[in-house]
Amino acid sequence: MLNETNDIQPNTIMPTLTQEKITHKKDIFSLAKNIPQSPYFEDKKHSVILFKSDCFDILPKLPGNSIDMIFADPPYFLSNGGFTCHAGKMVSVNKGKWDISKGVEENFIFTQRWLRECQRILTPNGAIWVSGTSHIIYTIGSAMQGLGYKILNDIAWFKVNPPPNLSCRYFTHSTETILWAAKNKYSKHYFNYDLMRKMNNNKQMLSLWSIKAPGFLEKIYGKHPTQKPIELLNRIVLASTKHGDIILDPFTGSSTTGVAAVKEKRQFIGIELEEEYLRTSIKRLKDIEKT
Ligand SMILES: C[S@@+](CC[C@H](N)C(=O)[O-])C[C@H]1O[C@@H](n2cnc3c(N)ncnc32)[C@H](O)[C@@H]1O
Repeated sequence: MLNETNDIQPNTIMPTLTQEKITHKKDIFSLAKNIPQSPYFEDKKHSVILFKSDCFDILPKLPGNSIDMIFADPPYFLSNGGFTCHAGKMVSVNKGKWDISKGVEENFIFTQRWLRECQRILTPNGAIWVSGTSHIIYTIGSAMQGLGYKILNDIAWFKVNPPPNLSCRYFTHSTETILWAAKNKYSKHYFNYDLMRKMNNNKQMLSLWSIKAPGFLEKIYGKHPTQKPIELLNRIVLASTKHGDIILDPFTGSSTTGVAAVKEKRQFIGIELEEEYLRTSIKRLKDIEKT
């Protein structure tokens, strides 16, 4: 386990957008006591725990009704040997072994399995956000409906500056969908309507979000092939959580969710298979004021 608490700069002076009193009603370190595996990294000061693990080994060990919000950016199963354009060059679309499709049925079983565990650990009024492209989002939506999640919004994330389509046989892919869903139909989900309105020039915020892909400065800690922009996660964290809430990301990658959580003084549990991405996560979390 890496414990780099002392290396992380305290962020007590950082301004946050939601200034309500922090009430640590429960904490991630007592939740983690139920998990036999030691964390790969923990930071008591900023309330962060990272596990190097398959999420199917960690999620079932967490107590039910314990997590306030989940953001999941799962494998999209789009690594099929194709090509895309990056910085004007033709590059392979392959993201890693974890992103290779297992076939429609297996993909559904995988998706349903982790979504079921996530639903169990969410608090009664908790909510989940799941991102995806056409390769996986219908599978996710169908699994969510079958499990009894209550879908609150399907956000269309417009990527503003997408790479061109090389084949010229399709429209340029420029959106991803992010499903926001409550644990079930009885949930009274939290939505910081006023702040979202304020962030949108005092007009109701639409479910169409124009946010650029992560720029160079967000990638200086290491490259993750599917890193999400911090602006996207900031918005999600602010829209649906309060100070001190517990946020979990079962496919944390370079921990964009964790960075947004720490910035806004939420607690964070991240799970990731690959050590390389955890190292990037730790660098980002250590340099929180710049990311
Ligand atoms: C789409 S990426 C997430 C990127 C992340 N949102 C970010 O901003 O960096 C999915 C991640 O899930 C990891 N992964 C895939 N299968 C996993 C599993 N069963 N358990 C835990 N992590 C997994 C992959 O290694 C990959 O880093």
